[in-house]
Amino acid sequence: MNKNSFYIKTFGCQMNIRDSEIMAQKLSETGYIETSAPDDAALIILNTCSVRGKAEQKVFSMLGSLRKLKQKNPELKICVAGCVAQQEGQKIIDRMEHVDLVIGTQHIYNISELLSKSTNSKTAINLSDSYEIPRYIPHVGGSPALHDTGAQDEQFSKFVTIMQGCNNFCTYCVVPYTRGREVSRRAADIVNEIQTLVNGGVVEITLLGQNVNSYGSTNQVIDNPAPYSFSDLLADVAKIEGLERLRFTTSHPKDLSERLIECFDLLPNLCPQIHLPVQSGSDRILKRMNRKYTIANYLEKVERLKSIRPDIAITTDIIVGFPGETEADFQQTMNLLETVRYHGSFSFKYSDRPETRAADLDGKLSEEEKGRRLQQFQKRQDEISLERNREYLGSTLSILVETNSGGKMMGRTVTNHIVHVERAPLDMVPGTFAPVEIIHAGQHSLKGALTPGQP
Ligand code: SAH
Ligand code: SF4
Ligand code: F3S
Repeated sequence: MNKNSFYIKTFGCQMNIRDSEIMAQKLSETGYIETSAPDDAALIILNTCSVRGKAEQKVFSMLGSLRKLKQKNPELKICVAGCVAQQEGQKIIDRMEHVDLVIGTQHIYNISELLSKSTNSKTAINLSDSYEIPRYIPHVGGSPALHDTGAQDEQFSKFVTIMQGCNNFCTYCVVPYTRGREVSRRAADIVNEIQTLVNGGVVEITLLGQNVNSYGSTNQVIDNPAPYSFSDLLADVAKIEGLERLRFTTSHPKDLSERLIECFDLLPNLCPQIHLPVQSGSDRILKRMNRKYTIANYLEKVERLKSIRPDIAITTDIIVGFPGETEADFQQTMNLLETVRYHGSFSFKYSDRPETRAADLDGKLSEEEKGRRLQQFQKRQDEISLERNREYLGSTLSILVETNSGGKMMGRTVTNHIVHVERAPLDMVPGTFAPVEIIHAGQHSLKGALTPGQP
């Protein structure tokens, strides 16, 4: 075991993936070295997610097995970061004496200092929330991060956080409690960071936030020209020369403005793809969820998107079995699926979360009923995904290569569809673009062949 080595296990969303990168970068600056083998590490960090009960259970079960590792190796330091740390930090400290550091979502930038405060006899903790920190997000060097755990961490495709937190308080959701209020970064910092990444060879950027559409609207960002909205930021980022593909996630439908929709027409490198979580097809349930739009509003925006970019791929998130959801409400979600014909979706059984208002609502459904609805939804979504994927058969699409292992290549289209290609030349390395003809469509991916004329 190298006494300076650390291992990070990341749960949850892109926010956490990006936060893990930042922690890795901060630790590397103070002499730590990342390892991919937890058994070799002197420091193990769990960057946790608490969005649903299941996600949180995974963290606690992993902490259970780390207890044994620490018994074998008392020098090992264990750190819990992320959303479970923010919400359940005190409980972790009270119940798990083998944890050395609990670090809230706003304090990852100080991980090295906090770590030096933790000793074998005392657990360090910092969970103070965003009300107490300055209203800006510290700038983290734009150099390609050292953290390397998956395709999106490759040097050609990067996530860039543009805002943190959320002000929406959807009644089922912990994020406003774990991430604090919305804070937007300075546009100049964002643009500089992306410019540096592009100079270093990055060709694809995904702008990241819980609700990117409200960028700049809840806090007047220091030094941003006023008014300056998410559409302005998109236009400024899109101008960066050498940036081939620009994406963003996630969008709240209530804040999807006409100007933002028009960006899909005006900005050539903005990919025709949007993740637009709807959560339910029933206005009654949307109201109970505090989503602040109706299905009619939502469909109007979907129609505008489709008319401006007929090739746009729309994906969504769905919660089934929200408290009080009747069979008729659920059927409205099924109807919405038929109307929009999403290219794909993430769907979940409603899960009670601490502090949220939905946890106190009447009309909870049984696990069996939620399971039945989820299965019915997913079965139909899979069929629709397949039908939509078949629409690409015979067309030639440009993919950005993500992996090429002995000629078995995988890349993504502008619409974010995964394409597998067999017998690709070995010099088609990750980060290059390749035109492929789509020869097979599955539910979750496509198969392509390099088009004639390719080496
Ligand atoms: N900020 C994003 C999503 C955050 S969480 C947005 O607003 O869309 C990702 C998804 O998890 C949500 O879209 C929702 O579908 C699901 N989710 C959140 N809380 C949940 C809960 N308590 N039970 C089940 N699913 C939940
Ligand atoms: Fe959660 Fe709603 Fe905020 Fe998304 S918009 S993070 S679902 S509260
Ligand atoms: Fe999970 Fe926190 Fe993201 S709860 S989904 S890791 S913001």
